[in-house]
Amino acid sequence: MMIKKIVVVGAGTMGHGIAEVAALSGFKVGLIDISWDFLNRAKDRITESVTRLYEKGQIKEKVEDILGRMEFNTSYDIAKDADFAIEAVPENLELKKNVFKSLDDITPSHTILATNTSSIPISDIAEATKRKDKVIGMHFFNPPVIMKLVEVIPSKYTSDEVTNLTIELAKKMNKIPVKLKYEIPGFVSNRIFIRLLQEACREVENGEGSIEEIDSAARNKLKLPMGLFELADYVGLDVIVDIWDVLVTRGTPDVKCSLYKNKVLEKSLGVKSGKGFYTYP
Ligand code: CAA
Repeated sequence: MMIKKIVVVGAGTMGHGIAEVAALSGFKVGLIDISWDFLNRAKDRITESVTRLYEKGQIKEKVEDILGRMEFNTSYDIAKDADFAIEAVPENLELKKNVFKSLDDITPSHTILATNTSSIPISDIAEATKRKDKVIGMHFFNPPVIMKLVEVIPSKYTSDEVTNLTIELAKKMNKIPVKLKYEIPGFVSNRIFIRLLQEACREVENGEGSIEEIDSAARNKLKLPMGLFELADYVGLDVIVDIWDVLVTRGTPDVKCSLYKNKVLEKSLGVKSGKGFYTYP
């Protein structure tokens, strides 16, 4: 199967970045969201990012040619001729099921439907469709244009052909795919990431280290590109709490710590709200 057009549903932090990566890789791209405000903001962010890459000589193709391959719409109509769809809406099973039902209704029968979920079982999402064998997890990392890793997660229903096509697509997008055997909670990376955040949280609440000290240790000893609390702010504290809750529901041991939840209750969501553990201009 030749993949020519990719649609992305959800134009937020991850969705706009995934759409940008797809367009940079030469695919025709459709980006769908519920409001034109979100779509216009996504278009601005993509334009800014692609312009930055062009001005630094990291891409040769003109910005207008890349953007010329992209369409933006609040209607699923632009998914009618898609070969591959990637859902990137908030981590809510019912919401995701609705998106998959809409995609299942409108896309051709050959279209592969992927989810960028970071924690919800792929099988649960697949059950909203009549093509469970063509539903798969394709999990990108923030910012998608920079981060190389893509987790490819087949569910118990996914065919080998669909898994292989998704791995090939990730490579065409200049990513490094890691295929999981099956849909373990948190997949590979978030399983580790959330445990790190749990320990960091426990150290702060027990008065064993400050946020700044733990972040300094993460940068200077663990050699992470960002401190753990800085990274939590960057990902979004609401996203962290959602993933944490799903992992605990699915059997990961919980840790008594309310730092992240309290921030969300205060509406301090990290970079996107201008304030989290740190403040952002
Ligand atoms: N578009 C284009 N270029 C971008 C960009 C974007 N959106 N974002 C960053 N860049 C470029 C910058 O222009 C810069 O390029 P030069 O080196 O050529 O100047 C380069 O990337 C580095 O960016 P910055 O100088 O702004 O800052 P930095 O060196 O601190 O890097 C970072 C920023 C790439 C985000 C880096 O801090 C990093 O890798 N952080 C860790 C990110 C991470 O772990 N993400 C995964 C989170 S978990 C997740 O996403 C999954 C989940 O399910 C929760």
